[in-house]
Amino acid sequence: VLGIGGTTSGLSSSGRALAIAMAAAESAGASVRVFGGNQIAELPWYSPNGTDRVALARELVQAVRDADAVVLAAAGYHGTLAGAFKNALDYLEDLRGDPRPYLSGRAVGCIAVSSGWQAAVTTLTALRGVAHALRGWPTPLGAAINSAGVVFAPDGRCVDEHARGQLEQIGGEVVAFARLQRAGAPVVR
Ligand SMILES: Cc1cc2nc3c(=O)[nH]c(=O)nc-3n(C[C@H](O)[C@H](O)[C@H](O)COP(=O)(O)O)c2cc1C
Repeated sequence: VLGIGGTTSGLSSSGRALAIAMAAAESAGASVRVFGGNQIAELPWYSPNGTDRVALARELVQAVRDADAVVLAAAGYHGTLAGAFKNALDYLEDLRGDPRPYLSGRAVGCIAVSSGWQAAVTTLTALRGVAHALRGWPTPLGAAINSAGVVFAPDGRCVDEHARGQLEQIGGEVVAFARLQRAGAPVVR
């Protein structure tokens, strides 16, 4: 399971939310990998004409290619996905010619974190729209987290039981879907 998300802010709440979902995926038996906020911020602006991608961009695209499921955790900026995060997702265009293009056949856990409910919900909706455009399968549960409340302790623990339960469920749901796909159910593309 590949997690993509977080920002460069010191105690990135979207990064923490992602970490909780990924820990749950790992507990459910998945091997996990995270492409985090610092890596996202290092990516050059995606160019549709580019053929010569930097190593980090190639790494991201290959990690998505290798993944059986992904979890996307976006900070909400001005009511939608933070620009740097969306830029990272733009690189998934490089998977268009793959036998399993974009996010086909893969569960996509969607997590949006904003300092208000309105942007958390609109960002989650935008994230699900992106997952659908990339032919992914957003999990039944998505998480809209309001970081204005006390959600995370300084050590990264999620102290909001309801939010934690949602994040853990998303981690479990992507693994469950990946297992179904592997278990010989027809691979849905
Ligand atoms: C440029 C910018 C725009 C933001 N826009 C919104 C917004 O429209 N609504 C909102 O509730 N929070 C907004 N926020 C707050 C972030 O969504 C919030 O701090 C979130 O926790 C950031 O995620 P992070 O902790 O992973 O960096 C904005 C923050 C920044 C830096």
